[in-house]
Amino acid sequence: MIGWLMKKIKLTNIIRVSSLVILTSSVFALSSVLETEEQLKAIERAHTATGDLKLNFRRTLKEELDKGGPAKALPACRVKAPKITNKSLGESQVIRLGRASHRIRNPLNIPPDWVKPYLEKFSQANTSDIPKHVLVELNPHRYGYIEPIFVEPICLNCHGQDLGKELREAILKDYPLDNATGFKAGEFRGLLWLEMKK
Ligand code: HEC
Repeated sequence: MIGWLMKKIKLTNIIRVSSLVILTSSVFALSSVLETEEQLKAIERAHTATGDLKLNFRRTLKEELDKGGPAKALPACRVKAPKITNKSLGESQVIRLGRASHRIRNPLNIPPDWVKPYLEKFSQANTSDIPKHVLVELNPHRYGYIEPIFVEPICLNCHGQDLGKELREAILKDYPLDNATGFKAGEFRGLLWLEMKK
């Protein structure tokens, strides 16, 4: 019974690992794929952290849009560093995180060097070839984790094609170098990256 269970667990892992391999290999060489038990657990930890983050982000964004329209809701699309104190981030051992894009609104959203090649490759790939996530071993104590961000209909309010004069002006007031408009739903918008303890 135990033997059978062990086999089943192993098989489940193999299936999960191979789906990661397929997703990742379409953009990157197989050699960059990590597949130990520890790494799968790290991916789960990262999922918990980003899942909560995205849920809160969406909720706030929608509330603020409903309340005052896009021009007033602009600050709602910031991912603030203090959110690291957020329970699920702490439990996931996240050290730092951020968002990056090939078409940036806030020039302060600069990714760490290890993220840059992924940003470049993903921004040039077909959206269907972009892996759902990537785990990178940064050093013996730290993992890096990346998730692509795609444009959803709600994002078009502030990153779409027809923004209207008032909103356009409000954006340029805070972000004079804005390059993050003109997106269509489904397009690659950027990355969510994080670094966490092993
Ligand atoms: C209410 C307007 C608004 C909406 C709606 C909105 N954004 Fe943003 N977005 C902004 C602003 C303002 C910034 C700059 C935030 C900052 O200062 O870091 C930004 C920045 C970003 C960034 C960081 C990279 C950069 O360009 O600086 C990403 C990624 C992003 N938005 C994705 C999205 C996605 C995905 C959605 C939909 C789920 C969305 N945004 C909806 C206003 C908006």
